[in-house]
Amino acid sequence: MRKQIVAGNWKMHTCLQEGTALATSINKMVKKEVNNKDTGVIIAPPHTHLSVVSQLIDTDRICLAAQNCASEAKGAYTGEVSAKMLSSFGVKAVILGHSERRAYYGETNETLMKKVNLVIENEMKPIFCCGEKLDQREAGNYFEVVKEQIENVVFNLSKEDFEKIVIAYEPVWAIGTGKTASSDQAQEIHAYIRKLISQKFGNEVAENTTILYGGSCKPSNAEELFSKKDVDGGLIGGASLKAEDFIGIIKAFK
Ligand code: 13P
Repeated sequence: MRKQIVAGNWKMHTCLQEGTALATSINKMVKKEVNNKDTGVIIAPPHTHLSVVSQLIDTDRICLAAQNCASEAKGAYTGEVSAKMLSSFGVKAVILGHSERRAYYGETNETLMKKVNLVIENEMKPIFCCGEKLDQREAGNYFEVVKEQIENVVFNLSKEDFEKIVIAYEPVWAIGTGKTASSDQAQEIHAYIRKLISQKFGNEVAENTTILYGGSCKPSNAEELFSKKDVDGGLIGGASLKAEDFIGIIKAFK
């Protein structure tokens, strides 16, 4: 059975004091209000907060993730943070291939392949993002776009390593815009992604792969989105910055 997950991507928000307060609230509320322990909860604060936040959360209930890592293992790469460094302070997952990183930092499939491999080598879980832009959606190209993003990176993994990843489908036009994909739109592409996985690695792997939806997901639409067969949870931006909203989304799983 694949795991249902709600992951919060804090992006470049919160100073350390705000971040620790948010992590503390989420930790308290998860313990008090989230009865379904099978739902995986992940938070991805900025790099600067990870070490402190790792001491504040109950790691049996909340998994700590990073938003990015370096594409090289170590060396003279000023300003970069390696996968090994992240894993040394309790990080268990890393978001990779987010559309903001692809768009603003020029991340290519080649860079992403290196990052995915480093994250796996350091025994963390890649949360691999894919998704089309508005013009690609409007032109009806979204299946090809998502296929290309997935095929050229994570389909290069062995079956054994592919089983360690989580996929997040995040249509760029829905990120931070308040415009959510409808549950039918999400289901359509999630089912397509699962079919691609099945063709590549077999039905069992496909059925066990968690595929998250991201893009203006909030407490008011999470239940409808998560009710779809192939939507296994969410990667949440804005609504993960308020503990009540984030918990509301986690509780949307029935
Ligand atoms: P929003 O939930 O703010 O639309 O962001 C989604 C996202 O990019 C999560 O990675």
